[in-house]
Amino acid sequence: MALFSILTLFPDAVESYLDVGVLGIARQRGIVDVQVVDFRDFTRDRHRTVDDRPFGGGPGMVLKPEPIVEAVEWIEARHGAHRRIALTPDGVPFGQPLAESMARDLDERPVLLLCGRYEGFDERALALLEFERLSIGDYVLAGGELPALVTLETVARLLPGTLGDARSAAEDSFGASAAGGLDHPHFTRPRVFRGEEVPEVLLSGDHGRIEAWRKKESERRTARVRPDLAQDDTNTLPGTTPEGG
Ligand code: ADE
Repeated sequence: MALFSILTLFPDAVESYLDVGVLGIARQRGIVDVQVVDFRDFTRDRHRTVDDRPFGGGPGMVLKPEPIVEAVEWIEARHGAHRRIALTPDGVPFGQPLAESMARDLDERPVLLLCGRYEGFDERALALLEFERLSIGDYVLAGGELPALVTLETVARLLPGTLGDARSAAEDSFGASAAGGLDHPHFTRPRVFRGEEVPEVLLSGDHGRIEAWRKKESERRTARVRPDLAQDDTNTLPGTTPEGG
């Protein structure tokens, strides 16, 4: 079973999401185990202090290194060395390729997700424990809890057995079927909704035509919405040219 350990100051906020949807199913099926640890429990002073003022001055508070390092040591003494990831806006950008590498890696070792708060971490905690730094986007949230859940859910749905249909992950945006680009449009019943009809090809039963249409729509959408993905030929199947417009 794949183990994730999440270090946070807001365990209730994290736990409230773990029963929902794909994560809930993955946990019920014994594919994923998530342990949530409050690193405030590793403080030693009466006030349970986790932060302090920054050396050198400036606004905001910095997370102290001791509770974080001791919490990680406590977890790893029980569950072995983890791949250690700190969620922070100054990390490497998270994306589907990184999620896939994490999903593969989970066979070897658990993943530890450290949620920041305030101005960030004392750098020594991350350096001493050789944390990777991960950002989920170029914006600043109030803490790492949502980024940790984003990471967890993205990886969990890639693990074999989590999704009902193994094709689902491959056929998503950024998946193999979309050649690393965006997903094609989807339609379901009714065939006509407020005068708008489902594209005829999808009703044809001709799987070759349907596949060709989906591929073309996927490329068209990628070129329009995410030209950065379309121009990157590592995301394009050989012999295809993304359409503009
Ligand atoms: N903490 C605050 N903002 C974040 C972001 N964009 N990614 C990861 N962790 C964060």
